[in-house]
Amino acid sequence: MRILVLGSGAREHAIIAALLAEGGHEITAAPGNAGIKRDVEAVRVDIKSPKLVAELAVEGGYDLVVIGPEAPLVAGVADALREVGVPAFGPTKAAARIEGSKSFAKDVMARAGVPTGIDQTATSMDEVRAALDATKPPYVLKADGLAAGKGVIVTDDRAAAEAHAEAFLPDGPLLIEEYLDGPEVSLFVLTDGEAVMPLAPAQDYKRLGDGDAGPNTGGMGAYSPLPWLAQRFGSEQAFVDEVVETVAMPTIRAMADAGTPFSGLLYCGLIVTASGVKVIEFNARFGDPETQVVLPRIESGFADALLAAANGTLGSAAPLTWRDSAAVTVVLASEGYPAEPVTGRVITGVDEAAKVEGVHVLHAATGEGEQGLTATGGRVLNVVGTGATLAEARERAYAALGRISLEGGQARTDIAAGA
Ligand code: AMP
Ligand code: GLY
Repeated sequence: MRILVLGSGAREHAIIAALLAEGGHEITAAPGNAGIKRDVEAVRVDIKSPKLVAELAVEGGYDLVVIGPEAPLVAGVADALREVGVPAFGPTKAAARIEGSKSFAKDVMARAGVPTGIDQTATSMDEVRAALDATKPPYVLKADGLAAGKGVIVTDDRAAAEAHAEAFLPDGPLLIEEYLDGPEVSLFVLTDGEAVMPLAPAQDYKRLGDGDAGPNTGGMGAYSPLPWLAQRFGSEQAFVDEVVETVAMPTIRAMADAGTPFSGLLYCGLIVTASGVKVIEFNARFGDPETQVVLPRIESGFADALLAAANGTLGSAAPLTWRDSAAVTVVLASEGYPAEPVTGRVITGVDEAAKVEGVHVLHAATGEGEQGLTATGGRVLNVVGTGATLAEARERAYAALGRISLEGGQARTDIAAGA
C-alpha cells in the first residue's frame, strides 16, 4: 500500500514503525521529524490545510492517508481527502468535535447512555463558584475546547480551581465534573462508523514525576498489557468487551444517528471506578504515548484494518493478530518541560540505545544539526522496550534509556513498575 502519514511526533513515528515492521508498504511522512526522516521519505506541507493535503494526496497517488494529530482533523483534512476520493483514516471535522468540544462529547454520552462523571457547565465566575460549592474536592475543571492538554485541572485547592477557571473562561464555557476515583485506562477502537475493532488497552502516565507527582504533561510513559486489569475483569478480553458494549458501540451509534458518523480511531479515556468503567474523555485519534506500546504488539493486519476503517468495510476485514508480548515506553523530556522546555541541546547515544535487544527509539521532537541530533521541544524521545513480559520490556527500556544523554533531560523511573 502507498501510505501517507500526517504528523510529526513519536505517535506518528510509532505508526510508521508498525507499518514498516509489517512490510510491503511504501510510506511517506508529512512533515515528519528527524527520526522519521531516518526511516522514510518526508515531504513538507501544512498539514492543517485541507486543500494542500488533498492536493498532495492526489498527486502522490496514495492508497491511504493516516491522520495522526487532532489539529488537521478539526481543520477538516479528512473531509477534503474524502471529497477528492482518497481514503482517509480519521473522522470528519463534524465528528472530530467529540474531542474538540467537551460539551459536545458530554451530549453524545448522555444520548448514548454512556457512563461518565456528572458535570455542570459554567460560563461565568459566579456559575463556577456555585458549581464548586455544590461539589466536594478534588475539583475537576475542564475547558470546553482544545487546549493542548492544558485545559484540565484536578485539584483539592479551591483557589487553584478558581484561578484555572479565571484563565480559561475567556475562551469559552467550563465543565465542572465529578471526580472519578480509580486507575486510568486508554482503549483505542478502530471504527468505520458502524463496525468496531478494539486494540489492546494501555496505561499512560500523565504526571511529570515519579509517584504521579508534579504537573500534568502530554504523557511521560505507557505500557501494555495491563495485568491488573485482566485480574480484575477475569481477562483483558472481558474488559475490552465491556467497554465496546457500554461505551464504544453506543457512542458510534449515537454519532451516526446525529448525522455525524465517526470513522477512524475512537480513543476511550476511561477510569475504572468501584462502580464500573466510566469515560473521562474521548479523543478522535491515536493517543500519545500509548500508541507507542500498543502497536508493537500487533503481529499482522494493521494497514488493512486502517484502510477498512477508512473505506467503510471494517465489518468484513480480517481480524488483527497479536503477539503474546509486552511493551513499555519511557519518555525523555527536556529540562524545564512542561512549563518552559530548554531546546537546542545535543542528544547522544540513541544508536547505542537502539542496540539493546527488543528496543527501538522513537523521535518526538528532534532536529538534525551540525553537532548531530538536537532536542527541539518538550518531549524529545520515546524509548520503547518490548519483551515476553512487562518486567523484561521495562528492564530493556530503562537499559536503553541509560545509554542516552541529554543535558537536563527528565524521565520517570517508575513507568510500569507498579504493574
Ligand atoms: P483530559 O485532558 O480530559 O485527559 O484530563 C487530564 C487528566 O485529568 C486525565 O488523564 C485524568 O488523570 C484527570 N481527570 C480528568 N477527568 C477526571 C475526573 N472526572 N476524575 C478524575 N480525574 C480526572
Ligand atoms: N495520552 C493522552 C492523549 O493522547 O491525549
